[in-house]
Amino acid sequence: MQGFLFLDMMRTLLFFVLVSVQLWAQQDSLYDQDWFDASFHKGRREALRQKMAEKSVAVVFAAAERNRSNDVDYQYSQDPNFYYLTGLTEPNAVLLIFKEPQTIDSITTTEILYVQPRSPHDESWTGKRLGVQGAKKKLGFADVYTNDAFSDLSLDFKKMDKIYHSYFYDDVRDDKLDAGDLYSLIKTFIEKTKNLSTKDSYGLSLLMADLREIKTPEELIQMQKAIDITCLAHQELMKKMQHNTTEYQAQAIVEYGFKYNGSEYVGYPSIVGAGENSCILHYITNRKKLTKNDIMVVDAGAEYHGYTADVTRSLPISGTFSEEQKKIYNLVLKAQLAGIEVCKEGNLFRSAHNAAVEVIKKGLMDLGIISAPNEFAKYFFHGTSHYLGLDVHDVGNYGRLKANQVITVEPGIYIPENSPCDKKWWNIGVRIEDDVLITNDKPRVMSGKLPKTVEEIEALMKK
Ligand code: GLY
Ligand code: MN
Ligand code: MN
Repeated sequence: MQGFLFLDMMRTLLFFVLVSVQLWAQQDSLYDQDWFDASFHKGRREALRQKMAEKSVAVVFAAAERNRSNDVDYQYSQDPNFYYLTGLTEPNAVLLIFKEPQTIDSITTTEILYVQPRSPHDESWTGKRLGVQGAKKKLGFADVYTNDAFSDLSLDFKKMDKIYHSYFYDDVRDDKLDAGDLYSLIKTFIEKTKNLSTKDSYGLSLLMADLREIKTPEELIQMQKAIDITCLAHQELMKKMQHNTTEYQAQAIVEYGFKYNGSEYVGYPSIVGAGENSCILHYITNRKKLTKNDIMVVDAGAEYHGYTADVTRSLPISGTFSEEQKKIYNLVLKAQLAGIEVCKEGNLFRSAHNAAVEVIKKGLMDLGIISAPNEFAKYFFHGTSHYLGLDVHDVGNYGRLKANQVITVEPGIYIPENSPCDKKWWNIGVRIEDDVLITNDKPRVMSGKLPKTVEEIEALMKK
């Protein structure tokens, strides 16, 4: 009889466990399912370990939480290196990666992660935390501790020939009530490594640039999502733009498209500048009323699961380019196409810039806007390319182009009022920017679906 009772109890218990697991799994499936697997980040840690020097350790910190004012912080954004190596999107954490396995307090390990502890109180204000168990289960780490235990780490850093570590910014705030906050983690690290000349933050940034400049297939899928969302939103603006609205309303159409299609943030503050503002490279005030004769530079990119797009189109507010706007636009387009053409494995990183400059020099001379080729720099005064990835200006070595790098190609011409040329050109600013994948063969323009010629843009704006 007692045996039956025991079996019944076990069956009931099993039933409840199964139901809870199922409910939990169902709950989980209501959230994004396309974050990287733990295996992606583990693979990246392994790739870093391969590049590290003998007898070394890498100590990588999460990004700081940054205060906007009083009780309000800026939205948290994880440090790209930390995210790349862990997948953790929470603050107040530190990762240690050892070149060779270390035995610490009788545990042998190659990596240790310290995370924020679970806290029902804090989680009811700011959201769920993974905690130690969650970090083990979801991120696939074997050795995870709460961040307040970092000070107990009995690792003798003197044994290491090199201590790679994150660069510290000096604006990290101390939460006096939290022994595991970033401030305390950094302080602990500095104390534990006091007077050691083996510390090297530049070395870590070089290794991370080496890794991050080449995108894995998983990263390229994520980047294409960010770029597709971005192109769709730019296209919506081309269809919906009206001359009696404002820069911020144009911005709203684009950013609505980003959010509606699943992007968490903008990759950088959207640049939406019409007329004189089209000549300000990183204009982000976006408050001007749109008037019919102006041209508007829209440089906006969605961020999706950490990866950002970076796309610019320049649009005539009226829907039709004026003769002068068209001439400048077509010159920038010609320069951009010449730049994209030389985005080939083995070419110097600056090849696209050099090609664009040659086209712009000649074009500005032909239009009579400059009288000597080198005067081009008055109107085109920025680089043509940067790497793209977790950061909009992503890390990389700026050497020769390699397959699976993603770079931007974004020449521009900006002619502010009072420039020394005919005033019919004044207040025309044009930038055209696409995201380009370097391959073993031809470059692939990842943002290539977005209309770009004068005819394509005018046709779409008429709809
Ligand atoms: N959106 C900034 C840049 O194009 O570099
Ligand atoms: Mn760019
Ligand atoms: Mn841009």
